Amino acid sequence: MSTLSRMLVWITGASAGIGAALAATIPYEAEIIDISRRGGTQGTHHVAADLADPASWPAVEEDFTRRLAGFDGDRVVFVHNAATLTPLGPADGVDTAEYTRNVLLNSAAAQVLGQAFLQAVVGLSCEQHLMMLSSGAALRPYEGESSYCAGKAAVDHWVRVVGLEQQRRKPGCRVISVAPGSVDTAMQAELRSSHDDLLPNARRFRELQARGGLSRPEDVARKIWSLLNRPLENGSVLHINDVPDLPVILDPPREKVVSRERSGA
Ligand SMILES: NC(=O)c1ccc[n+]([C@@H]2O[C@H](COP(=O)([O-])OP(=O)(O)OC[C@H]3O[C@@H](n4cnc5c(N)ncnc54)[C@H](OP(=O)(O)O)[C@@H]3O)[C@@H](O)[C@H]2O)c1
Repeated sequence: MSTLSRMLVWITGASAGIGAALAATIPYEAEIIDISRRGGTQGTHHVAADLADPASWPAVEEDFTRRLAGFDGDRVVFVHNAATLTPLGPADGVDTAEYTRNVLLNSAAAQVLGQAFLQAVVGLSCEQHLMMLSSGAALRPYEGESSYCAGKAAVDHWVRVVGLEQQRRKPGCRVISVAPGSVDTAMQAELRSSHDDLLPNARRFRELQARGGLSRPEDVARKIWSLLNRPLENGSVLHINDVPDLPVILDPPREKVVSRERSGA
């Protein structure tokens, strides 16, 4: 455990996959709040929320404000990780209600909850971090994933803009996005089980798993935590493969990470 304790961490979607792995591997003493529908992850407080429903967003904002009101610790972190692929398929054929939920969760919730966190931390003197989970889908057009791809592209560009704004603040919240690569979670299982007519890339995902090409959620989570102590420009958009494979760094010295834009990954 680091000496940097008294840390408050919100993770959306810590009930499963990468979010649960983030909760399990955090290398700091921290109070962790899981914002998800299912909850149940050991060692976390649960805020029950269906983030594809905008009616749930004020409760998250209220949780930020309430917990921060009495907080005099060292660091606050918000990891926006929850996302969905559903519904997979061409935009002209999928269910409109499901498509709307996808847009609300992947595009809108990220920006609205991100904005709520930034407002909630104004005036705090402790270290502040906002990390968005992105995807290679932000850069590449994958048929059958239109609103997911668009949502991740929106997240990345939101991070670039807000990162510039935060550079003007003292202390300012450091805002970054990170694409985790291909990780062995339910989301990958959904891609593999999809019909080729709906997702022309489905076979590629099945092959990826067959040749052992998926990362373990815990390995990715440890690398994501290591980003907290790396000297990244505010507004950086990264791919996890750009992050040097070093032991988790709990305190400086810090090493340079090349951003996704520059590496072209
Ligand atoms: N796995 C990969 O290969 C991969 C690749 C690129 C990017 N990513 C990104 O990494 C992040 C995590 O993905 P994952 O693979 O861990 O996904 P996952 O295993 O499907 O888990 C998704 C998490 O998001 C939560 N979530 C989904 N819909 C929600 C809703 N409506 N309201 C609240 N929470 C909701 C789920 O919790 P509940 O069901 O309990 O609500 C769950 O905890 C996502 O942003 C994803 O886009 C993953």
